[in-house]
Amino acid sequence: VEKTFLMVKPDGVQRGLIGEIVQRFERKGFQLVGAKLMHISRELAEQHYSEHKEKPFFGELVDFITSGPVFAMVWQGENVIQIARDMMGKTNPADAAPGTIRGDYGVQVSMNVIHGSDSKESAEREINLFFKPEELLEYTRDINKWI
Ligand code: GTP
Ligand code: MG
Repeated sequence: VEKTFLMVKPDGVQRGLIGEIVQRFERKGFQLVGAKLMHISRELAEQHYSEHKEKPFFGELVDFITSGPVFAMVWQGENVIQIARDMMGKTNPADAAPGTIRGDYGVQVSMNVIHGSDSKESAEREINLFFKPEELLEYTRDINKWI
């Protein structure tokens, strides 16, 4: 099964949205296989966002993502990478549809509540950056046959 890396950003943690966000993915039927509340180091932030290092907002992005705790998660399920992106909504909350996480909770592009991997390659890269193999659990749920 496919896995993706999702993270409630510092704004989402400060605003008390961890439970709300976890609930959306649980209700959709996805399975949580790893999670932790953590403070991202500058080094990890720069690695995580290395694709954006030439962008004018890179410094601001690293400052923001290291400004407080984040809630890092690994979710699994069929097509979870793309479906989670759809559930998150467009990058800029101003463009994100109502019903999506960013559409419902975000206002500014710099504080858009949640991160999600955008491809199989980035999911694998990000999961390995944030989690040790032993922090990811393998378990079956009887309910999987109904999803
Ligand atoms: P992530 O899931 O966080 O990676 O978002 P994304 O994949 O929808 O967008 P992208 O990877 O292109 O950009 C990464 C993050 O940079 C976004 O989530 C925004 O928080 C931030 N970002 C993008 N554009 C701007 C900008 O113009 N200014 C600032 N401050 N941040 C930006
Ligand atoms: Mg991205």
